[in-house]
Amino acid sequence: MNSSLSDLLTEATKRSAHVRSTFKVVSEADSFEELAEIAQRSNSFADLEEGGVNYLASWCVRVRQLDRTRFGKTLRSPLSREREATAGMTNLLQKFGGKVNLRNPDEMIYIFEGLTARKKFVLCRKLADGLENMSSIAPTTRKCVTSTPLRPSVAVSMANIAKLQKNFNVLDPYAGSCSTLLAAALVEPTCKTVGIERAHGGIVSFMKIQEDFAVRKFTPLSGLIRGDSRDIAIRDKAIEAISGEEFDAILTDPPYGIREKVDEGCPPPLVELFQSIIEDRERGKRLLRVGGRIIAFCPNRGEDDLTDKQSELPSKEQMDRAGIKLVAMMKQPMNESLSRWLVVFECIE
Ligand SMILES: C[S@@+](CC[C@H](N)C(=O)[O-])C[C@H]1O[C@@H](n2cnc3c(N)ncnc32)[C@H](O)[C@@H]1O
Repeated sequence: MNSSLSDLLTEATKRSAHVRSTFKVVSEADSFEELAEIAQRSNSFADLEEGGVNYLASWCVRVRQLDRTRFGKTLRSPLSREREATAGMTNLLQKFGGKVNLRNPDEMIYIFEGLTARKKFVLCRKLADGLENMSSIAPTTRKCVTSTPLRPSVAVSMANIAKLQKNFNVLDPYAGSCSTLLAAALVEPTCKTVGIERAHGGIVSFMKIQEDFAVRKFTPLSGLIRGDSRDIAIRDKAIEAISGEEFDAILTDPPYGIREKVDEGCPPPLVELFQSIIEDRERGKRLLRVGGRIIAFCPNRGEDDLTDKQSELPSKEQMDRAGIKLVAMMKQPMNESLSRWLVVFECIE
């Protein structure tokens, strides 16, 4: 793995809702001594040795026994196994300039035992852990919660599918308690977030939402607008909140008409969102920039495929007029009888 690939993997891991940790495999062998020898031959730890950039980095060695049938449920190996491993790899480890730190080392060296189709031991360097503080935005920890809050792992995944980058402008036109925008702020703290919500303050308190951002030391919302996102004047306020720029991403979870009412006689929310995007594009005030993404949920009404006929999604003609294409759709089961689609659109012109 070259360093730019491992840098990318490290960055991706740090913002992932579903990956626990990633590792770079250094060597595999049937003894600890051989593991170390191969690692030395390939200079896999040169940065921790004299003259290396991480010469003074603290480190520790951990052994994890992964074959449950042989080792039982606990993945942790006995301390005696870690001692055996460090003794077997002395030739390599004694070259490191940094101190051993068992609690919070700069460098974590792992030996996995019991991986299928591998030699007895696999020596790895940990690249990174997945997003650790995701539970900090869980609805149970928040001051403002609606009756349909998104789970943190779902909201974080939406932010990642939108490929949020530094200083992105992010809009939720059906914001509720702003789960999507909290996730955006967690994943990419430099994002400018704007929410539009039409429910009154007794149901969705903007003060509490702002407190939810403040207590977590997240970048404050750039805009929190009370009103109907179908209304041009309300969308203009959203655009003003980002100094007249265009949004790079729209993350949203509109009402499905199941636990939360949709307006009777009106098209489904996503169809209305596209109508708004077309309206703005045709009046020369883009809501979404070219290359920007919309990540949204829509209900599954019992069919396996959403088609234009079911009209939860914008029609082909609407997508063409909006300059937007459907990139992907994934089905997410919610319980035994209910599922929804996560749909991904990209603005192409
Ligand atoms: C499914 S909830 C969003 C929940 C949100 N993701 C959360 O975690 O709290 C949909 C929200 O959209 C709001 N809403 C519905 N139609 C709207 C519209 N046309 N403009 C603005 N907000 C709207 C509803 O009041 C509701 O709070």
